[in-house]
Amino acid sequence: MVDLRRAPKTPQLIIVTGVRAIDPSASLDAVVDIVVEDGRIACIGPAAATAEQLASERALIVDGRNLWAFPAFLDLHAHFREPGQEYKEDIRSGLMAAAAGGFAHVCAMPNTKPVNDTRSITEMMVARAREVGGPELHPIGAITRGLRGEELTEMADLREAGAVAVSDDGHCVTSSAVMRRALEYARTFGLPVIQHCEDHALTGGAQMHEGRTATKLGLRGWPREAEDIIVARDLILAESTGAAYHIAHISTSGAIRLLREAKSRGLAVTAEVTPHHLLLTDEAVVGYRTHCKVNPPLRDATDVIACRAALADGTIDAIATDHAPHSSLEKDCEFQEASPGIVGLELVVPLMFELVSSGALPLARFVDALTRAPARIIGLEPTTLRAGARADFILVHPEREHILTRASLVGKSHNTPFLGRKCHGQVEMTMVRGAIVYTLASSELQGTSP
Ligand code: DOR
Repeated sequence: MVDLRRAPKTPQLIIVTGVRAIDPSASLDAVVDIVVEDGRIACIGPAAATAEQLASERALIVDGRNLWAFPAFLDLHAHFREPGQEYKEDIRSGLMAAAAGGFAHVCAMPNTKPVNDTRSITEMMVARAREVGGPELHPIGAITRGLRGEELTEMADLREAGAVAVSDDGHCVTSSAVMRRALEYARTFGLPVIQHCEDHALTGGAQMHEGRTATKLGLRGWPREAEDIIVARDLILAESTGAAYHIAHISTSGAIRLLREAKSRGLAVTAEVTPHHLLLTDEAVVGYRTHCKVNPPLRDATDVIACRAALADGTIDAIATDHAPHSSLEKDCEFQEASPGIVGLELVVPLMFELVSSGALPLARFVDALTRAPARIIGLEPTTLRAGARADFILVHPEREHILTRASLVGKSHNTPFLGRKCHGQVEMTMVRGAIVYTLASSELQGTSP
């Protein structure tokens, strides 16, 4: 355990000894020492720390035996609810949840209240995150004003203020004319367009995936075609405009087939998948479990298998959490009344380790899908375990068995169906810019909630 109670007051050197470090971007999988000084990785390599460094009183030594080190993660898709719904999450609590999950970077979706469709809101979010410190927040601006799907936002302003992409997430840009203009406009500013693929004409009143379970439960179904039709149309528009197009939370085998075909022709199109779409099927909704209500809905086993295969072979580029906090007000109610969404920033390692240890997801691909691949999508310098790089990395205990409880969650909301699940793999420590922003020991000492 990384125990900071015995650390020097202001360690100028942090040395992790004998840790298995995995970074596919550096072709690294070896047992190394990592020496951190002045916010950077001063050196990394087998037995790289000198006897002098190890004996220094200024040094914090972390015993890395039995731990793994990864570059810190980047989440392309989180909802922080500030401004407007801070009772669900705010920028501070969201960034703390990110630190606990192993993230150095988080992209925040614009469906705040008011919507992040103007420079001043983007600027406010960036400034607030800087005050908080820890992981970096990268706002995603809206494609259209008020997410209404009609009038484009001033994307140049949004980009100047710090937006890394545009999206109307939660809503689909359904008009082909607006989407075409959005792709053309965003391209001139080098902003990727992230689409929430849902043909609303096919999902009116829908509560869950259309299929046998929906019929049994008497709930209106949400057909796969609602996603596939938008993906098909958007891929045509992405090709003709040459814009960078990204599919948020892909969930159907049909959308994956279309994406694979587009990529095989060299289009600049990318996609992300969430842990819940990789692990759960629509049957999880049985019992009217509102914590399994999510948009897009949990699909059936054929889709889950397709998502896993596409993530493993790189057709789906990234894992994104779609961390969507809701309070008990929005979840402890009738299924039809409940808001869709699942929190997940804190749970990526334990949940995705299920796929890694079963062999469904190669370890290197897991790391890539949370580091280099998402960084490439938004044009950010990827985190990496190399000498000279910014010290943004995490330590993970690969074997530690634990049960997910409310105490595993650091953010304000607890809406996840995964509580009670037995997992292994836990984030022990997150370092951002050379500063330790999270340790498991301190979170266990604090005992965040009952
Ligand atoms: O389940 C979801 N919740 N999907 C979305 O696209 C939006 C999100 C939210 O904001 O709660």
